[in-house]
Amino acid sequence: MQRCEQLQDLSREHHHSLKMAKDLANLAKKGSDDEVRQGVKKLTDYYDNELEKHFQHEEQVIFSLFFKHYREYMQIATLLLKEHGAMRALIHRIKTQQPELEELKKELADFALMLKDHTRMEERTLFPLVESIFTKEQLEAVLHFEPF
Ligand SMILES: [Fe+2]
Ligand SMILES: [Fe+2]
Repeated sequence: MQRCEQLQDLSREHHHSLKMAKDLANLAKKGSDDEVRQGVKKLTDYYDNELEKHFQHEEQVIFSLFFKHYREYMQIATLLLKEHGAMRALIHRIKTQQPELEELKKELADFALMLKDHTRMEERTLFPLVESIFTKEQLEAVLHFEPF
C-alpha cells in the first residue's frame, strides 16, 4: 500500500523493524551460543540507536494526538503505547540482568514476536487510520518531528 509521504520515514523504519524481528527469531531458534550473544548486542544497539527514537516519534506526534483530539480511537493508541512499554521493559531486563543463555533465547524470541506483531498492527491499522483522520498540519508535524 502506498503511504502518504509524511509517514514514509516511519514506514521505512518499520521495514527495518520487521527485518530485525525476523533475524532475532532465527537466531533464537537456530543460533549458536556465540551468535545468540551477538544477537543481544545487535538488539541493544538497534534499540539505543533507532528503536527508542522511533517509539518517541510515534508517542509524541501520533499517540498524543489520539488522546487529545481523537479520543474515539484512543483504544489503539493505548494498546500500542503499552506494547512500547513492554518492549522497553524486556530490553531493560536483557541489558541489566544478564540472563542465562536459554533464558536469553526465550527473551530474544519473545521480543522478536512482540516487535513483529506491533509493527504490523501499526502498518495495517494505525497508519491507515492516521492517514484518514489527521489534518494536513498534523501529518506535517509527524514528518518534521525533532526528538528532544
Ligand atoms: Fe510503535
Ligand atoms: Fe512503529
